[in-house]
Amino acid sequence: MTQLLAPALLNVEDYRRQAKRRVPGFVFDYVDGAADAEHCARRNRDALDRVDLQPRVLRDTSVVDTTVEVFGRRWPQPFAVAPTGFNGLVRPGGDVLIARAAQQQGITFVQSTASNARLEQVAEEAAPPWLQLYVMSDRSIAEQLLRRAQRAGCEALVLTVDVPISGHRERDIRNGFALPFRPTLRTLANLMGHPRWLAQVARHGMPQFVNLSESHTGAVTTQAQAALLSRAMDRSLVWDSLDWLRRLWPGPLLIKGLLHPDDAFEAVRRGVDGLIVSNHGGRQLDAAPAAVQALPAVVQAVNGRMPVFMDSGIRSGTDVARAVALGARAVFVGRPVLYGLAADGEAGVAAVLTLLAEQLARTMALTGAADIGALSALKTHPPSQPA
Ligand code: FNR
Repeated sequence: MTQLLAPALLNVEDYRRQAKRRVPGFVFDYVDGAADAEHCARRNRDALDRVDLQPRVLRDTSVVDTTVEVFGRRWPQPFAVAPTGFNGLVRPGGDVLIARAAQQQGITFVQSTASNARLEQVAEEAAPPWLQLYVMSDRSIAEQLLRRAQRAGCEALVLTVDVPISGHRERDIRNGFALPFRPTLRTLANLMGHPRWLAQVARHGMPQFVNLSESHTGAVTTQAQAALLSRAMDRSLVWDSLDWLRRLWPGPLLIKGLLHPDDAFEAVRRGVDGLIVSNHGGRQLDAAPAAVQALPAVVQAVNGRMPVFMDSGIRSGTDVARAVALGARAVFVGRPVLYGLAADGEAGVAAVLTLLAEQLARTMALTGAADIGALSALKTHPPSQPA
């Protein structure tokens, strides 16, 4: 009977559908949408679906070990939570809810510059996150963020480099989703259908980009917030700017959002500590290649000199396995976590992370891979190394 009332959520797509029911359309579109005609977002999926894993047989998989080493730590799973801005829009306190669910499972949470919680709060209520950095024209914002991140015990810095300007998110534009918020009539009508979400916002207020200011009492101007939402970044940021960052950040520095092997070479030359092959989940350049397609050439260019990670399109533990078999040390997961948050808050995030872990363990058993080393060694098609 309970089954009939509440059908089990078996996969990420089930959580996506649930999320769509639970939050207003403009919130769902902000999370789910991508740039322009959303070709890139679809390409991410199509390319992952086309990666075959060639299973091996008669291997002992009575114990499947999914752990992997990342910057001297043992991660329980080869995946972590990607940085996403405006999590408080999905649920009040969204950043802390995600961070807590992740921490319960020992999973790393990357906190966005555009988060709605201060990183100190996340560090206190969950665990010190990794910090994702957007460098805006006023570089003093980045500088104070880095000082605070060090004090809060953040272990790694993720510099996002694929947002010189914002991608053209047509769903957001059609919904009037900008700061200040100018909802269309359709958006308003849709809001009326979500009294629970409205009541939460009435109680907690519209989420603010509170991570931007040096002190927790510091005001964040609407102008600075609007600049962040419209991603008015410092377009003069170049490879040489890494020296400036290096002076401010002693820990591991990762670059997120590159796709070209020559950029990977450059990153190696500059002493970067890790790369995240990503097209921002298709939210920036609609003509960008699928991240999983770009991955093997980057892995080959790096040639083991630093870990290569990937995100964009991961929707299952099987996708995690595909990326690992193609040479990724681990992957980051964006929208699935937000679908979980929208569907059921902290419990929803925990459920999605558990789901990915279960799917991965099952895929590993079915491919005869008892550990991540064996998974990395699996043959894939398309092949992991370009011919
Ligand atoms: C993002 N992403 C992102 N990336 C980043 O570096 N800083 C940010 O603030 C955000 N904000 C953000 C918001 C939302 C709603 C989404 C969906 C994504 C990109 C994110 O880190 C990651 O690259 C993609 O989400 C990965 O693709 P999937 O897993 O969503 O397909």
